[in-house]
Formats: sequence, C-alpha cells, structure tokens
Amino acid sequence: MSVTGVQGEERQDYSKAESAQIRARSRHLLGSLLSPLKAKLWLTAVAIVVSSAAQVAGPALIAYGIDQGIPALVEQNWFPVAFAGAAYLITGLVGAFLIAVYIRMSARISQAVLIDLRTRMFLHTQKLSLEFHESYTSGRIISRQTSDLDAIRELMDEGLTLLVRGLMYMVFTAIMLVIVDAPSGFVLLASLVPLGILTRWFQVRSQSLFRRSRVASAKLIVQFVETMTGIRAVQAFRKQKRNEAEFGGLVEDYRDVNAKVLGLFAVYNPGMALIGNTAVAVTLVLGGFRVIDGDLGVGVLLAAVLYTKRFFDPMEDMAMFYNGYQSASSALEKISGVLEEEPSVPDPVTPVDLWNAEGDVEFDGVEFAYTKDRVILPRFDLAIPAGQTIALVGSTGAGKSTLAKLIARFYDPSDGVVTLDGIALADLHPKDLRRAIVMVTQEAYLFSGSVADNIALGKPGASSDEIVRAAMAVGAHEFIEGLPNGYDTDVNKRGGRVSAGQRQLISFARAFLANPAVLILDEATSSLDIPSERLVQEGLTKLLADRTAVIIAHRLSTVAIADRVLVMEHGRIIEDGTPAELIGGTGHFAAMHAAWKDSLV
Ligand SMILES: Nc1ncnc2c1ncn2[C@@H]1O[C@H](COP(=O)(O)OP(=O)(O)OP(=O)(O)O)[C@@H](O)[C@H]1O
Ligand SMILES: [Mg+2]
Repeated sequence: MSVTGVQGEERQDYSKAESAQIRARSRHLLGSLLSPLKAKLWLTAVAIVVSSAAQVAGPALIAYGIDQGIPALVEQNWFPVAFAGAAYLITGLVGAFLIAVYIRMSARISQAVLIDLRTRMFLHTQKLSLEFHESYTSGRIISRQTSDLDAIRELMDEGLTLLVRGLMYMVFTAIMLVIVDAPSGFVLLASLVPLGILTRWFQVRSQSLFRRSRVASAKLIVQFVETMTGIRAVQAFRKQKRNEAEFGGLVEDYRDVNAKVLGLFAVYNPGMALIGNTAVAVTLVLGGFRVIDGDLGVGVLLAAVLYTKRFFDPMEDMAMFYNGYQSASSALEKISGVLEEEPSVPDPVTPVDLWNAEGDVEFDGVEFAYTKDRVILPRFDLAIPAGQTIALVGSTGAGKSTLAKLIARFYDPSDGVVTLDGIALADLHPKDLRRAIVMVTQEAYLFSGSVADNIALGKPGASSDEIVRAAMAVGAHEFIEGLPNGYDTDVNKRGGRVSAGQRQLISFARAFLANPAVLILDEATSSLDIPSERLVQEGLTKLLADRTAVIIAHRLSTVAIADRVLVMEHGRIIEDGTPAELIGGTGHFAAMHAAWKDSLV
C-alpha cells in the first residue's frame, strides 16, 4: 500500500523480484476479471479451434478432388468430385458460422471485462484516501482511465482472437502439411530457422521501441493535462512559448520512435514474405521433380504449396498485435498497481455508530508526519469541548491545515488517536463521521449542475425551502437571486459563472445545510470582500452557535467570534487562550493583533 510504489509506477528499472511481483499482480487481476466468464471463454476457444481446423481442411480436399476425383470422373464416377466439392463447401460453411460465433463471443467477453475494469478503477480511485490523490497526478489517473483501458480494449476486441486464431491456424496448417506430404513438411521446418531468427530480432528490437513509444505517448498526455488544468497560470506567466517548445519536443520524440517502429516493420514484413515465398518455391520445385518421377500426385503438390503459402499468412497480423499485446499487458500492470493501492485511511472493520454527535474532539498523544523522515506535528494533546469555536492562527506552513485534516480524518495520525465524543475517528462508521464532521476549504469546488444542486450536496434530498434558508443564513441568497436563473443557474455555463467569493458562499450554504456537529473552515472566507465577510460573519455566529468549530483564517477579524484562540508555530501550539487573554498578554498573538490593528488605521 505504499504511495512510493505508486510514484514509481512509470519507472522502468524494476528488479527481477519486483517485475515478478508486478506480473503476478496483473495475472491475478486478469484471473479475477475472466473467472466469471469461464463458460464463454471455453466456448470461444472451442469455436476458434474447430473453425481453424475446418478452414485447414480445404487444400486436402482439393488434393483429393484432383488426384482421386478427376481420374474417377474419367470413368464416369461422379462421386469423389462431388464429395470433395460438397465437403469443401460444408467445411467452409462450418468455418464461417464458427467465425461468426467466436467474434460475437469474444466481443461480449471483451465488453464485460472492460465494463468491470472501468467500474473497478473508478470506484477504487474514488475510494482511495487523499494521500494517494496528493501524490498521483490527475494526468496519470486520466491515462489509466483512457489510454490504458483503450490498449486493453484494442487487444481484447480483435487482437487476442487474431493471435489465437493465427497460432491455431499455423499449427493446424503445419500438421496437415506433414500429413499430406512429409517431405514438404521438412521444407517448411527448414524455413522456420530463418523465420525464428527474424522474429526474435523483431521481438527484441520492437519490445524496447514499443515501450519507448508508450512512455512518449504517456508523457504527451501528462503534459497536455497539466497545461490545461493549469491554464490560468500558463497564460498569466506567458508560459505558452516554453510549453510550445516542451510539447514540440515530446511530439517529436513520439514521432521519432514511431518512425523507428515502422522501420522495423519495413524489415520484418518483407523479410517474412521473402522466407515464405522461398519456401513455396522450394516446395514447388522439389515437388515438381517428384511428380515427374511419379512419387507425388499433382493434387497433393498443389495442397502442399497451398499449405506452405498459408502457413505464413497470419504472421503479419501477429507481428502487428505483438505491439498491442505489449501495450495491453503494460497497461494492465499499471492498472493493477492502482487497484492494489489500499486506502491509507481504511474503513473500520467493526464500525461504531454515532447517531447524534455532541462534537467533543480530542487529540490524545497525537503525532503526525506525511513522510517518515519529516514530522509535521510533534506529539501533542488537545481537547476541544463540544460547542466551542476555535480560531487557529499561525504563519504559513505552521501545520494548521494538517491539524484540520486530522479532525476530518483525511489522514490518520502516525501515532496517538483523535476522538469524537470519546470514539476514535478510525472506529467511527464512515457515514456518521462524514455527517458529524464537515470541512470547508478555500478551493470551494462546484460540480456541474445548478446552484441549488450544489448546495443540496450538503444534505441529499433537501427541499428547495431548506436550500433557500441555508443560503439566507450565510448571506448567499441575495447574489444567487441576482444570477440569470436564480437557484437554477448552471454554475458551469457561461453567464452562470460565479466568482471565487460567491463560490465560497455557496459552499458555506452547503455546510450549513449539512448541519454537522463539528465544522472546520480552512481559509474558507479568504476570497470574500470585507462587506461579504461581515455578512458571512453574522451568518457564521448563527452557524457556529451550537456546534464545535475550528476556523483557520489569516484575517484576524474572523477571530473575534472565537471563544478560544490557538496559535501554531512549526507544528506546535504555542499559545492557547481566549482572544481577550491573548491580546492582553505579551505573546505572539498580541504582537500579531497589534500589527493588524495598526494596519487598519
Ligand atoms: N500532502 C503533503 N505531503 C507532504 N507534506 C505536506 C503535505 N501537505 C503539507 N505538507 C507540509 O506540512 C507542513 C504544514 O502544512 P500545512 O498545510 O498544514 O500548513 P498551514 O499552516 O495550513 O499553512 P498555510 O497557512 O499556508 O495554509 C508544511 O511544511 C508542508 O510542506
Ligand atoms: Mg493551510
């Protein structure tokens, strides 16, 4: 469950043991995807084997028709020719029917596997803790859901049946060739030597090139996603030119490596054709001599030539899909890596219900570190009695948001426990935890939908009356009424776009509606102008009246409504008291407050 494992996902230098582990992991995933489809798989396999066998019968029937049927025809015996013709037709029909069967079956299997995998990926990444999402970039998550799943889809849709069918076809063809004419079988056997060498050469070269091509295309996606998600910073800092150069470099790399791949095919395909044609020519010439000597029927020679020629037919497709196979298996390895990640904040095994939380929060011997080598919050105890409003202040990077994330259980402490009404957060039923503790942050996220939908997120199924009352309570009602369609305005449509401060007001209304026992506001008022902040503050006093609250704010005006102030520095709480006590004292907060007072006049 290591996040470091995830971060190393795109690296290539795995040790033997690690590679074996990764392969085992993706085999396990494949097994779990395919096991519900066992019956369909068997049916498909049988259809492929029988249809290949049926197709391979053709040349042998032609040989029979020529060598036995034509002489019989001379003696007015129609039967052998009619038999050969009818059998040819029937095997053709059976073959065609079975091809239809396995194409349908394999499509169903492929779709079932993909739906399963897609859903698992979505649900799993959604379930993973914040820790995962803070280290696994959105670009990489997007490649998992798009290009990786596509690679698997491509292989499953046609590649796999082509590979299996091609292989079956070659095996059956070789067997038939040996049966109808063993000496021609030797010619084919001899041609396998150069074919093997050529194929091995292709495999080795293509393996590393295909890998480079995949890495290059993944880099393209990541660069694209990063640029577009950070488009504001890109445009604000005129980074376009630099991005253009970077993107241009990546595009060029991708083109280069693909040109090299095509170069390989330019050697492999003609090489194979040459070997195939040579084998056909040798079979024809040697067979020709034997026909003249009377050792071989013309029909058998024709069959031998046809078999030899057909043996090489699927090779080209198989080489093409070797690439698909590699991409798909590497995609499966990466996907299995994500699916194997466990939430670092796991759901309790035996959850404790808490129907009506009082809001008593306690930190008991808590220590916290994001990574082992750097402790952010050294061991501390803290009790926040139910109903208290706490202002948490301190300089940038002091650890305020980290402390807040521990209360909301986005992270578990490295040591010690955080409790709500005496129950460890880790034991609390997730639904009770989410209902009891709500955290509102600076980046108030709005989902596509109307303003009302976004507020209702706080309490699914809330009536429109409740929604309006929540908006009124936090002072958001007025601006919402002013939007083109009021509460029904789509927040992602042009015209419905709301400002950062308005977004914050909406997320306040959302929190108000959720009515949690513990409310955490992490710089949730930072985007509001002073009048709006005042307005919110009036709402806030109402909102905070009967619940526990932790407010993190750089603006000290917000602190006025707090019962208690905590000053944090370097992960430690260095001052703790009522606003009046701290302002009256000589500590850090008194100095901060005096400076703030001065700035107001
Ligand atoms: N996801 C993370 N992984 C590793 N370190 C982190 C992570 N988030 C924060 N930190 C580190 O933890 C420390 C405290 O960060 P935190 O966000 O709690 O500060 P803060 O007091 O909220 O600051 P600000 O006032 O700027 O919001 C910082 O030194 C930061 O580098
Ligand atoms: Mg912060």
